[in-house]
Amino acid sequence: MSVLENLRQTFRRDQVFDFVNKQDYSQVDTSHGLILYVEDVSVSFDGFKAINELNFYIEVGELRCMIGPNGAGKTTMMDIITGKTSPDKGSVWFGQNINLLKMTEPEIAQAGVGRKFQKPTVFEHHNIFENLEMAMAGDKSVWSTFRARLSSEQHDRITSVMETIGLSDCAKQRAGALSHGQKQWLEIGMLLMQNPKLLLVDEPVAGMTHQEMDKTGELLTSLAGEHSVVVVEHDMDFVRSIAKKVSVLHQGSILAEGSMDEVQNNQRVIEVYLGE
Ligand SMILES: Nc1ncnc2c1ncn2[C@@H]1O[C@H](COP(=O)(O)OP(=O)(O)OP(=O)(O)O)[C@@H](O)[C@H]1O
Ligand SMILES: [Mg+2]
Repeated sequence: MSVLENLRQTFRRDQVFDFVNKQDYSQVDTSHGLILYVEDVSVSFDGFKAINELNFYIEVGELRCMIGPNGAGKTTMMDIITGKTSPDKGSVWFGQNINLLKMTEPEIAQAGVGRKFQKPTVFEHHNIFENLEMAMAGDKSVWSTFRARLSSEQHDRITSVMETIGLSDCAKQRAGALSHGQKQWLEIGMLLMQNPKLLLVDEPVAGMTHQEMDKTGELLTSLAGEHSVVVVEHDMDFVRSIAKKVSVLHQGSILAEGSMDEVQNNQRVIEVYLGE
Protein backbone atom coordinates (compact mmCIF):
# COMPACT_ATOMS: atom_id res chain seq x y z
CA MET A 1 0.00 0.00 0.00
CA SER A 2 1.33 3.40 -0.92
CA VAL A 3 1.95 6.08 1.64
CA LEU A 4 -0.81 8.03 -0.01
CA GLU A 5 -3.32 5.22 0.42
CA ASN A 6 -2.27 4.87 4.02
CA LEU A 7 -2.82 8.52 4.67
CA ARG A 8 -6.19 8.43 2.94
CA GLN A 9 -7.41 5.60 5.05
CA THR A 10 -6.44 7.25 8.27
CA PHE A 11 -9.46 9.50 8.19
CA ARG A 12 -12.81 9.66 6.51
CA ARG A 13 -12.55 13.04 4.88
CA ASP A 14 -16.26 13.80 4.93
CA GLN A 15 -16.50 13.05 8.63
CA VAL A 16 -13.40 14.85 9.72
CA PHE A 17 -13.28 18.05 7.74
CA ASP A 18 -16.57 19.82 7.21
CA PHE A 19 -14.93 22.44 5.06
CA VAL A 20 -13.94 20.01 2.30
CA ASN A 21 -17.54 18.96 1.72
CA LYS A 22 -19.18 20.31 -1.41
CA GLN A 23 -19.80 24.03 -1.28
CA ASP A 24 -23.27 25.43 -1.23
CA TYR A 25 -23.58 27.88 -4.10
CA SER A 26 -27.34 27.88 -4.02
CA GLN A 27 -27.44 31.50 -2.99
CA VAL A 28 -26.74 32.76 -6.53
CA ASP A 29 -30.02 34.29 -7.67
CA THR A 30 -30.55 33.66 -11.39
CA SER A 31 -34.32 33.96 -11.40
CA HIS A 32 -34.13 36.43 -14.29
CA GLY A 33 -32.26 33.85 -16.38
CA LEU A 34 -28.87 35.58 -16.32
CA ILE A 35 -25.73 34.31 -14.61
CA LEU A 36 -23.45 37.26 -15.42
CA TYR A 37 -24.06 40.98 -15.78
CA VAL A 38 -21.19 43.15 -17.05
CA GLU A 39 -22.26 46.79 -17.29
CA ASP A 40 -20.39 49.97 -18.29
CA VAL A 41 -17.04 48.52 -17.29
CA SER A 42 -13.85 50.42 -18.10
CA VAL A 43 -10.24 49.96 -17.10
CA SER A 44 -7.12 51.84 -18.15
CA PHE A 45 -3.51 50.79 -17.92
CA ASP A 46 -1.21 53.83 -17.92
CA GLY A 47 -3.85 55.88 -19.70
CA PHE A 48 -4.62 53.17 -22.29
CA LYS A 49 -8.24 52.05 -22.19
CA ALA A 50 -8.00 48.26 -22.36
CA ILE A 51 -11.71 47.91 -21.49
CA ASN A 52 -14.01 50.71 -22.59
CA GLU A 53 -17.67 50.87 -21.54
CA LEU A 54 -18.01 47.11 -21.85
CA ASN A 55 -21.54 45.69 -21.63
CA PHE A 56 -22.69 42.11 -21.99
CA TYR A 57 -24.83 39.48 -20.29
CA ILE A 58 -24.50 35.71 -20.09
CA GLU A 59 -27.57 33.52 -19.75
CA VAL A 60 -27.82 30.56 -17.40
CA GLY A 61 -26.57 27.44 -19.21
CA GLU A 62 -25.37 29.36 -22.26
CA LEU A 63 -22.19 28.63 -24.25
CA ARG A 64 -20.87 32.01 -25.41
CA CYS A 65 -17.90 32.46 -27.67
CA MET A 66 -15.88 35.67 -27.50
CA ILE A 67 -13.64 36.58 -30.38
CA GLY A 68 -11.63 39.67 -31.24
CA PRO A 69 -8.21 40.74 -32.47
CA ASN A 70 -5.10 40.60 -30.29
CA GLY A 71 -5.26 43.22 -27.56
CA ALA A 72 -9.04 43.59 -27.82
CA GLY A 73 -9.35 43.10 -24.06
CA LYS A 74 -10.61 39.50 -23.90
CA THR A 75 -8.21 38.30 -21.21
CA THR A 76 -8.56 41.57 -19.29
CA MET A 77 -12.33 41.04 -19.32
CA MET A 78 -11.78 37.64 -17.66
CA ASP A 79 -9.32 39.22 -15.19
CA ILE A 80 -12.07 41.64 -14.14
CA ILE A 81 -14.75 38.97 -13.72
CA THR A 82 -12.44 36.79 -11.63
CA GLY A 83 -11.20 39.62 -9.42
CA LYS A 84 -7.64 39.73 -10.72
CA THR A 85 -8.08 43.27 -12.04
CA SER A 86 -10.30 45.99 -10.54
CA PRO A 87 -12.07 48.13 -13.12
CA ASP A 88 -12.05 51.92 -12.86
CA LYS A 89 -15.81 51.97 -13.27
CA GLY A 90 -18.85 49.83 -14.00
CA SER A 91 -20.46 46.84 -12.35
CA VAL A 92 -20.08 43.07 -12.55
CA TRP A 93 -22.74 40.88 -10.94
CA PHE A 94 -22.96 37.13 -10.60
CA GLY A 95 -26.66 36.46 -10.78
CA GLN A 96 -28.79 39.30 -9.45
CA ASN A 97 -27.42 39.27 -5.96
CA ILE A 98 -23.63 38.78 -5.93
CA ASN A 99 -21.48 41.83 -6.56
CA LEU A 100 -18.20 40.41 -7.86
CA LEU A 101 -16.41 43.76 -7.64
CA LYS A 102 -16.67 43.63 -3.85
CA MET A 103 -15.04 40.20 -3.63
CA THR A 104 -11.51 38.79 -3.62
CA GLU A 105 -10.27 36.27 -6.18
CA PRO A 106 -10.73 33.26 -3.86
CA GLU A 107 -14.19 34.45 -2.82
CA ILE A 108 -15.22 34.71 -6.48
CA ALA A 109 -13.94 31.21 -7.20
CA GLN A 110 -15.73 29.99 -4.11
CA ALA A 111 -18.99 31.56 -5.28
CA GLY A 112 -18.85 29.47 -8.44
CA VAL A 113 -16.76 31.20 -11.10
CA GLY A 114 -14.11 28.85 -12.52
CA ARG A 115 -11.35 29.99 -14.81
CA LYS A 116 -9.16 28.00 -17.13
CA PHE A 117 -5.93 29.69 -18.11
CA GLN A 118 -4.20 28.88 -21.38
CA LYS A 119 -1.31 26.99 -19.86
CA PRO A 120 -2.43 23.86 -18.04
CA THR A 121 -1.44 23.81 -14.39
CA VAL A 122 -1.88 20.20 -13.33
CA PHE A 123 0.10 18.37 -10.64
CA GLU A 124 2.54 16.60 -12.95
CA HIS A 125 3.71 14.03 -10.41
CA HIS A 126 0.26 12.85 -9.46
CA ASN A 127 -2.10 10.70 -11.46
CA ILE A 128 -5.37 11.85 -12.97
CA PHE A 129 -7.51 10.60 -10.12
CA GLU A 130 -5.32 12.33 -7.54
CA ASN A 131 -5.33 15.57 -9.49
CA LEU A 132 -9.12 15.60 -9.43
CA GLU A 133 -9.12 14.64 -5.80
CA MET A 134 -6.89 17.54 -4.87
CA ALA A 135 -9.00 19.92 -6.93
CA MET A 136 -12.07 18.91 -4.95
CA ALA A 137 -10.60 20.49 -1.86
CA GLY A 138 -10.33 23.83 -3.61
CA ASP A 139 -7.83 26.18 -2.12
CA LYS A 140 -7.33 24.05 0.98
CA SER A 141 -3.88 22.66 1.48
CA VAL A 142 -2.86 19.64 -0.56
CA TRP A 143 -1.74 17.99 2.64
CA SER A 144 -5.17 18.10 4.26
CA THR A 145 -6.75 16.34 1.29
CA PHE A 146 -4.48 13.34 1.69
CA ARG A 147 -5.02 12.98 5.39
CA ALA A 148 -8.64 12.12 4.82
CA ARG A 149 -10.37 9.24 3.09
CA LEU A 150 -12.83 9.78 0.32
CA SER A 151 -16.49 9.09 0.88
CA SER A 152 -18.18 6.95 -1.76
CA GLU A 153 -20.03 10.04 -2.93
CA GLN A 154 -16.75 11.86 -3.49
CA HIS A 155 -15.32 8.83 -5.23
CA ASP A 156 -18.32 8.73 -7.57
CA ARG A 157 -17.97 12.42 -8.27
CA ILE A 158 -14.35 11.98 -9.36
CA THR A 159 -15.30 9.00 -11.52
CA SER A 160 -18.08 10.96 -13.15
CA VAL A 161 -15.81 13.92 -13.93
CA MET A 162 -13.20 11.55 -15.40
CA GLU A 163 -15.91 10.26 -17.74
CA THR A 164 -16.99 13.77 -18.67
CA ILE A 165 -13.46 14.74 -19.66
CA GLY A 166 -12.89 11.43 -21.46
CA LEU A 167 -9.99 10.25 -19.29
CA SER A 168 -11.58 7.30 -17.45
CA ASP A 169 -9.28 4.84 -19.15
CA CYS A 170 -6.15 6.38 -17.70
CA ALA A 171 -7.11 7.23 -14.11
CA LYS A 172 -3.77 6.01 -12.79
CA GLN A 173 -1.63 7.73 -15.38
CA ARG A 174 0.73 10.44 -14.19
CA ALA A 175 -0.46 13.84 -15.32
CA GLY A 176 3.06 14.69 -16.45
CA ALA A 177 2.87 11.93 -19.06
CA LEU A 178 -0.34 13.20 -20.66
CA SER A 179 -0.54 14.87 -24.06
CA HIS A 180 -1.10 18.62 -24.22
CA GLY A 181 -4.78 18.07 -25.06
CA GLN A 182 -5.29 15.59 -22.23
CA LYS A 183 -3.73 18.02 -19.77
CA GLN A 184 -6.16 20.70 -20.89
CA TRP A 185 -9.10 18.34 -20.33
CA LEU A 186 -7.75 17.34 -16.96
CA GLU A 187 -7.57 20.96 -15.96
CA ILE A 188 -11.14 21.49 -17.08
CA GLY A 189 -11.99 18.45 -14.94
CA MET A 190 -10.21 20.03 -11.99
CA LEU A 191 -12.37 23.12 -12.41
CA LEU A 192 -15.47 20.94 -12.57
CA MET A 193 -14.59 19.38 -9.22
CA GLN A 194 -15.38 22.76 -7.69
CA ASN A 195 -18.79 22.67 -9.32
CA PRO A 196 -18.62 26.14 -10.89
CA LYS A 197 -21.78 27.76 -12.21
CA LEU A 198 -19.80 29.84 -14.69
CA LEU A 199 -16.70 28.64 -16.52
CA LEU A 200 -14.34 31.05 -18.26
CA VAL A 201 -12.02 29.39 -20.74
CA ASP A 202 -9.23 31.36 -22.45
CA GLU A 203 -7.93 29.93 -25.75
CA PRO A 204 -8.60 26.26 -24.98
CA VAL A 205 -7.47 24.79 -28.30
CA ALA A 206 -4.18 26.64 -28.82
CA GLY A 207 -1.53 24.03 -29.62
CA MET A 208 -4.02 21.18 -30.04
CA THR A 209 -4.28 18.69 -32.88
CA HIS A 210 -7.49 18.68 -34.93
CA GLN A 211 -8.67 15.56 -33.18
CA GLU A 212 -8.08 17.13 -29.79
CA MET A 213 -9.93 20.24 -30.92
CA ASP A 214 -12.96 18.18 -31.89
CA LYS A 215 -12.98 16.49 -28.50
CA THR A 216 -12.59 19.83 -26.74
CA GLY A 217 -15.54 21.20 -28.71
CA GLU A 218 -17.67 18.25 -27.64
CA LEU A 219 -16.58 18.64 -24.04
CA LEU A 220 -17.37 22.37 -23.84
CA THR A 221 -20.70 21.85 -25.59
CA SER A 222 -21.60 19.09 -23.13
CA LEU A 223 -20.78 21.35 -20.17
CA ALA A 224 -23.20 24.06 -21.31
CA GLY A 225 -26.65 23.61 -19.87
CA GLU A 226 -25.50 22.51 -16.47
CA HIS A 227 -22.90 25.27 -16.45
CA SER A 228 -22.65 28.60 -18.25
CA VAL A 229 -19.51 28.68 -20.36
CA VAL A 230 -17.61 31.62 -21.87
CA VAL A 231 -14.95 30.61 -24.39
CA VAL A 232 -12.37 33.04 -25.76
CA GLU A 233 -10.73 31.64 -28.87
CA HIS A 234 -8.89 32.79 -31.99
CA ASP A 235 -9.38 29.64 -34.03
CA MET A 236 -12.40 30.50 -36.18
CA ASP A 237 -13.03 26.95 -37.37
CA PHE A 238 -13.24 25.87 -33.78
CA VAL A 239 -15.53 28.75 -32.84
CA ARG A 240 -17.78 27.98 -35.79
CA SER A 241 -17.98 24.34 -34.72
CA ILE A 242 -19.29 25.11 -31.22
CA ALA A 243 -20.79 28.60 -31.43
CA LYS A 244 -24.35 29.50 -30.73
CA LYS A 245 -23.98 33.18 -29.87
CA VAL A 246 -20.74 35.01 -30.57
CA SER A 247 -19.58 38.35 -29.15
CA VAL A 248 -16.90 40.31 -30.94
CA LEU A 249 -14.67 42.41 -28.72
CA HIS A 250 -12.73 45.30 -30.18
CA GLN A 251 -10.83 48.02 -28.34
CA GLY A 252 -12.41 46.98 -25.07
CA SER A 253 -16.05 47.11 -26.20
CA ILE A 254 -18.55 44.77 -27.82
CA LEU A 255 -18.49 45.48 -31.55
CA ALA A 256 -21.09 42.91 -32.61
CA GLU A 257 -23.08 40.05 -31.16
CA GLY A 258 -25.06 37.29 -32.86
CA SER A 259 -24.70 33.97 -34.65
CA MET A 260 -21.36 33.13 -36.24
CA ASP A 261 -22.81 33.93 -39.68
CA GLU A 262 -24.18 37.24 -38.49
CA VAL A 263 -20.92 38.44 -36.98
CA GLN A 264 -18.79 37.18 -39.89
CA ASN A 265 -20.97 39.13 -42.32
CA ASN A 266 -21.02 42.23 -40.16
CA GLN A 267 -19.28 45.06 -42.03
CA ARG A 268 -17.60 46.53 -38.95
CA VAL A 269 -16.31 43.12 -37.91
CA ILE A 270 -14.89 42.49 -41.37
CA GLU A 271 -13.10 45.86 -41.29
CA VAL A 272 -11.59 45.17 -37.88
CA TYR A 273 -10.27 41.77 -38.91
CA LEU A 274 -9.01 42.97 -42.29
CA GLY A 275 -7.29 45.88 -40.59
CA GLU A 276 -5.28 43.59 -38.32
N1 LIG B 1 -1.66 44.52 -16.49
C1 LIG B 1 -1.55 45.24 -17.61
N2 LIG B 1 -0.79 46.34 -17.66
C2 LIG B 1 -0.69 47.07 -18.78
N3 LIG B 1 -1.34 46.79 -19.92
C3 LIG B 1 -2.10 45.71 -19.95
C4 LIG B 1 -2.26 44.86 -18.80
N4 LIG B 1 -3.11 43.85 -19.14
C5 LIG B 1 -3.45 44.05 -20.42
N5 LIG B 1 -2.85 45.16 -20.91
C6 LIG B 1 -3.06 45.72 -22.25
O1 LIG B 1 -4.47 45.76 -22.47
C7 LIG B 1 -4.78 45.41 -23.82
C8 LIG B 1 -5.73 44.25 -23.82
O2 LIG B 1 -5.03 43.08 -23.47
P1 LIG B 1 -5.70 41.65 -23.37
O3 LIG B 1 -4.64 40.74 -22.92
O4 LIG B 1 -6.91 41.74 -22.54
O5 LIG B 1 -6.10 41.36 -24.87
P2 LIG B 1 -6.65 40.02 -25.52
O6 LIG B 1 -7.90 40.38 -26.24
O7 LIG B 1 -6.72 38.95 -24.51
O8 LIG B 1 -5.52 39.69 -26.60
P3 LIG B 1 -4.97 38.28 -27.13
O9 LIG B 1 -5.96 37.85 -28.16
O10 LIG B 1 -3.65 38.64 -27.76
O11 LIG B 1 -4.85 37.36 -25.98
C9 LIG B 1 -3.45 45.11 -24.50
O12 LIG B 1 -3.05 46.26 -25.19
C10 LIG B 1 -2.51 44.81 -23.34
O13 LIG B 1 -1.19 45.15 -23.66
MG1 LIG C 1 -5.78 37.10 -24.26
